[in-house]
This record gives sequence, structure tokens and C-alpha cells, in this order.
Amino acid sequence: MQFRTRAIHVGNERDSQTGAVVPPLHLASTFVQPGAGVWGEYDYSRSGNPTRAAFEKTLADLESGVGALAFASGMAATHAATMVLSAGDHVVAGSDIYGGTFRLLHKICNRAGIKVTLADSTDLAKFESAFRPETKLVWIESPGNPRMTITDIAACAKLAHARGALLGVDSTFATPVLTRPLELGADIVMHSATKYIGGHSDMLGGVLAVRDKDLRDRLYFIQNATGNVLGPWESYLASRGLKTLELRVREQCRTAQRIAEYLAADPRVESVLYAGLPGHPGHDIAARQMHGGFGAMLSFALQGDFQTAKRMCESTHLFQLAVSLGAVESLIEQPASMSHASYDAAARVEHGITDNLVRLSVGLEAFEDLRDDLDQAMAKALKAT
Ligand SMILES: Cc1ncc(COP(=O)(O)O)c(C=O)c1O
Repeated sequence: MQFRTRAIHVGNERDSQTGAVVPPLHLASTFVQPGAGVWGEYDYSRSGNPTRAAFEKTLADLESGVGALAFASGMAATHAATMVLSAGDHVVAGSDIYGGTFRLLHKICNRAGIKVTLADSTDLAKFESAFRPETKLVWIESPGNPRMTITDIAACAKLAHARGALLGVDSTFATPVLTRPLELGADIVMHSATKYIGGHSDMLGGVLAVRDKDLRDRLYFIQNATGNVLGPWESYLASRGLKTLELRVREQCRTAQRIAEYLAADPRVESVLYAGLPGHPGHDIAARQMHGGFGAMLSFALQGDFQTAKRMCESTHLFQLAVSLGAVESLIEQPASMSHASYDAAARVEHGITDNLVRLSVGLEAFEDLRDDLDQAMAKALKAT
């Protein structure tokens, strides 16, 4: 079956008791057992819940994994992935990663004795030179955040495996519609389900999908031992979001491409970071690695400084000034002061997060309305300079 058919039918079997076409929401925390010491399919909702299991089943199928595990948020899922490591282990992470992941690696994992090196994952020779004998996990994002860098996932998988490390991919921006890292050799794929999977800015969630049963079992043990699970209501919303994921993502990509082209032709804009533009350094890899779209996130450097970009972000009407992304409504933010504020100034400079960078999450509104909104906000921001 095709992706969009599986998104609707796998894990969404009709209710055998009532015939309801939507599986019921299971709020129970505990389940009656057939006998003392005889366990049924479900016993306690931290260990397993039918509504969460339904979402995990659909997502695992869409990512071509053997299984998936749903967590309370994207960061909770990423944290669980790092818990496969022990003190003394080393992580090589891409330099274009979400600010919260940067913070997790540098301020939480370090306290557990885990060492971290950030390196440019778009330059494989540089990336490889960051490896150490004790490197056990490689963590990348593609497209990256906020510079929309594109990393060759298959090449990174080969590199990681040759050194005995696991490859984890934060695929939040790409969604399983556009990229399926497990098919490219990655061991773990992570999504902040808060974003495109939920799709409506009304839930928090995270998910890991894996292609190896042993790894799935290790992660399941970690999840159950730490109690880091997605609640039934959020699981229900995530399952519902998956049903329209492909349609939303394809349309959002189409509008994002048009906005990128519009901005690239505007003299008020210094540069546009979007892999759908042929001049983007990752364009060729993205064209090969992504299925029929380049994502609906883009960043651009506005002429001017920190204050100009700040004013731009504060002057839009349709693009709402907020972190997060991936929902039906378009959002705008300034990475230097918002999503990547957890990088200190020196780290921002080192990773190319300039003060005049503006990041857009393109939603489902009409292109013309979004274009006009950006036009008036740029005019207002630059007029005050
Ligand atoms: C690329 C990326 N990864 C991970 C996360 C963290 O997800 P959550 O906010 O669901 O914890 C985010 C959140 O913005 C993100 O953009």
C-alpha cells in the first residue's frame, strides 16, 4: 500500500466491539489480568497502552522500522536515545542542530560522563575527524536547524557503522513523507511529534523508530524504567495527525518553495537557506534523499542587523511570532534570540546563526497572503533602520 493509505489504515483497525471506524481512546492506567502472574497484552499504561501502541504501529510502518516508541516530547525521545550510552562514551553531533538538543548534550549528558563534539555533518571529512575510539552515537538533523543544511544520511550511516557507532537522525523537519532515514541505514529516527506529525500546534510528543529489534528492546526498557511515555490523548492526536501528514506536508512544501523563490529575488534579502533552491549547497543530495519536496522550513538573512530581523519578526500579521513549527498556521522567529538562544554568542557565530537570520515555518495559508505579509513586514523593518 502507498504511504498515505498506510497512514490511514495501519494501526487504525476498526473497533471489534462497536464497529467504530476510529479506534477508541484508552485512558485506563491499569488493565485486568487473566490470572495472578499471568499477564495479558496490557498490564499498566506506563508499560503499554493501546492508544499509544496504535500510534507507534503506524509510525513504525511509515518509517520502515521494526518498532517505534512514543515519548512525552521530542526532547524526551532524544534523551531516551542518549540513555543507550554510558559514562565515558562520546557523541559526534552535527553542528546545525536544534538548540534544545545542543543544551541536552552539553548540559545534561555531560553530567552523566558523556562527551560531545559538534562537527559539520555536511563535510564528511571534517565530520569523520571528530570521531574518537569511544564514539558510540552519531546524531544529525537533515534539513538542519536553523540553517537548513542537508546531510547525506546514507554516507553518515556508513561512517558511523565503520566506527562501531549508532546513527540517530532527528528527522522532524523532513517527516517520513520526505525522508526515511532507516531505509538509508540509520539506526534510530527521532521526530518531535509536536511538529508536522501532530500538525495543529495542539500537542507535545516525541517518537523514536528503529530498524533493529534488540535496539528497540533496549529503548523500551529505558522508556519503561524511566516512565517517559506519551499520554493516550496525545497519542490519539498524533495518530489523527498522521492521517493527513502527507497531504499537509506536500502542500506546505509547494508554498515554501514559492516563498523561497520570492525571497531569493528580493533585494532586501541577503540570502535564503532552502534546499529547494538550486544554489543551495545541499540541493543535489536533497533531491536524491528527499521524496518529492524540500520541506516547509526556511531561513533567510535580512539586510540589516539583529534589530532589523527582530522588527521583521514582530511586524508580520499572518506569520505568528512563535517558536515551534510544522503546523497548519505559519510561524516566524529569530533563531539568535529564540530557538537557538541556548547557544552562547560565540557558538552562534561558529555555527553560522547570524543575528539577522529569520526562520519561517510555512503553513497551509495561501501563498499570496503569506507573500504579502512578508513584503509589508520587511518594508516596516527596513524603514526604521
Ligand atoms: C528539530 C527539532 N528537534 C527536536 C525538537 C524538540 O521537540 P519537543 O519540543 O517536542 O521536545 C524540536 C522542537 O522545536 C525541533 O525543532
